[in-house]
Amino acid sequence: MNRVALAPTFDEAPASDRHTQDALLSIRDLHLDYGGGPVLNGIDLTVKRGQAVSIIGPSGSGKSTILRCINGLVTPRRGSIHIDGIDVRAQQSDAERIALRKRVGFVFQQYNLFPHLSVLDNLTIAPRRVLGKSREEAESDAHALLAKVRLADKAHAYPGALSGGQQQRVAIARTLAMRPDLILFDEVTSALDPETVGEVLNVIGELAGEGQTCVLVTHEMRFAAEISDEVFFTERGVIVEHGPAGQLFGQPRNERTRLFLQRARGEDRSHPPLRAV
Ligand SMILES: Nc1ncnc2c1ncn2[C@@H]1O[C@H](COP(=O)(O)OP(=O)(O)O)[C@@H](O)[C@H]1O
Ligand SMILES: [Mg+2]
Repeated sequence: MNRVALAPTFDEAPASDRHTQDALLSIRDLHLDYGGGPVLNGIDLTVKRGQAVSIIGPSGSGKSTILRCINGLVTPRRGSIHIDGIDVRAQQSDAERIALRKRVGFVFQQYNLFPHLSVLDNLTIAPRRVLGKSREEAESDAHALLAKVRLADKAHAYPGALSGGQQQRVAIARTLAMRPDLILFDEVTSALDPETVGEVLNVIGELAGEGQTCVLVTHEMRFAAEISDEVFFTERGVIVEHGPAGQLFGQPRNERTRLFLQRARGEDRSHPPLRAV
């Protein structure tokens, strides 16, 4: 049984009450084409500072592409993206793009740790090289972050000796080591064995509970329902519907959302099927 123990912090005050409310990320009328045709067809999405926002939707609907636009990996044809007031599309020089990526962490399905480096070195390499931290400072920070993701005893292990869930938690700690304003999580549990999904979701849930601003693309519907302030449902490159998690999951307004949720709940690995609300 793929039951996941969600951290008790999820049951505290409503997410929307927990944090301050100014917009950290603002996306307006985003359009993007790949060779095969239009992929994003006018995406609007706002994330306030301290919010956890989830994007759900069928495979191929443009979720990853939205995240790639946010951190400047791909450039949209039309529309605007602002992070803390900075126009992402105007960041053209290498220096500007690096500065942007320092502020936006990205955690992928494939954790991409350096296999020849210890966990500790994986965590300290970017803070030392990009942020100019001393070895002592970077290592002290790394140990604290490993404790946070419950891997304090793995500092000197190599990635190959860790489970998928442990490696993904190292990848999250590595992202946190850069102190990003915003973290993008793209289906970070999709490649994991069922028994390690929960430990990764718990870590992300705690970060969200602490007020780390994040955007999550996930298929774990119960988890999205528990931790999200706002949920966006995408299909064919448009936001079909968005709203507070309770409303979108409990009383979806759009028939497409309803059908998608019905199917997704059958495949959810984060919890037994949602109660009807
Ligand atoms: N680099 C690419 N080149 C061409 N087409 C792409 C590329 N990346 C994604 N696509 C297409 O764009 C659409 C949206 O992809 P994606 O954003 O990855 O969807 P999702 O994350 O929702 O599964 C899909 O039809 C996909 O095939
Ligand atoms: Mg994707």
